[in-house]
Amino acid sequence: MKFLIINGPNINMLGLREPDIYGKEDYRALQKFIYECCTREGIEPVLYQSNHEGAIVDRIQAAYGDADGIVINPAAYTHTSVAILDALKAVRIPAVEVHLSDIAVRESFRQISYPGMACLKTFAGLGFEGYRKAILFLKDYLIKNSPPA
Ligand code: DQA
Repeated sequence: MKFLIINGPNINMLGLREPDIYGKEDYRALQKFIYECCTREGIEPVLYQSNHEGAIVDRIQAAYGDADGIVINPAAYTHTSVAILDALKAVRIPAVEVHLSDIAVRESFRQISYPGMACLKTFAGLGFEGYRKAILFLKDYLIKNSPPA
């Protein structure tokens, strides 16, 4: 099983950016955390981070026929990107949305998630742990929904 784990703009600034909201650990620590979660579950992780909407769309398209699942934190593009929503819908790869912070209790402009409309589930407000829950959820979903051998 191969998962593409996408992180959007400014996630590479973790540790530095608003640590009271996003925590003190940096992106390297998040990469390590995700890598360990996946390998423990027997999942091959492919990690991708970009600050550019089109690059994220390109990466989702490139996952067609390759990745079994997508875990995505679209970051600020969550609240604006119909293009990322459409890319997820186009490839029809089962996807789960993650947010480090609890977007539901933040500013009103963070209340809508376009990519989330193409995701099976959203984990928000759990910090790094949200990625672990997303990986486990997706693995379980794929096992339950795989065609019989
Ligand atoms: C975020 C929440 C978004 O609203 C914000 O723009 C981010 C990070 C999160 O992980 O909590 O960049 O996706």
